Amino acid sequence: ARLVVLVSGAGTNLQALLDACADPAYGARVVAVGADRPGIAGLSRAEAAGIPTFVVPVPDFADRAAWDAALTAATAEHEPALVISAGFMKILGPEFLAAFTTVNTHPALLPAFPGAHAVRDALAYGVKLTGCTVHFVDAGVDTGPIIAQETVPVRWHDDEETLHERIKVVERRLFIDVIGRLARDGWTRRSDRHLSMKCKS
Ligand code: GRF
Repeated sequence: ARLVVLVSGAGTNLQALLDACADPAYGARVVAVGADRPGIAGLSRAEAAGIPTFVVPVPDFADRAAWDAALTAATAEHEPALVISAGFMKILGPEFLAAFTTVNTHPALLPAFPGAHAVRDALAYGVKLTGCTVHFVDAGVDTGPIIAQETVPVRWHDDEETLHERIKVVERRLFIDVIGRLARDGWTRRSDRHLSMKCKS
């Protein structure tokens, strides 16, 4: 399956995916990496792997709809079977979401702590168990149908950085597993909220 990956930062999830795709049995191939800003580590990782990149910054466009159209067009050029949002920190627009099935990874147990500061918010709330969620993207902020989740315990001395690093270790493993299954076997829809992996493998 052809994957286009969208990133905004360090790209450690992207790197894990690139490493997984090196095995032909994984069943997926990253055909392009897109970003909403230049100069980020995620883009360097793609370039180092010889994968085409594109950058579509929001401030370059008159409004959000024009940005949405440009990101959709840039992504469509690579004809993805699935788009992967791997630390992409912009809300995808309606045109994009109508064009592609997109999967996102989030560093909390949704529906708890959606948004850009999930780890900070979970710590501030005082939860003892948090984790990560892989879900399909819909028009809301981290509200799309959940595909898979894993838990991570919060430690007494955790700060945002230590907790996020521990979540990211689990998150990368879950993310790689889910994307491989989706790429190989596809997914099914039981209702609006219940899309799931076919789980053949
Ligand atoms: C991940 O924890 C992701 O869930 C969150 O931002 C982080 C991105 O990490 N939205 P990286 O860029 O893949 O290293």
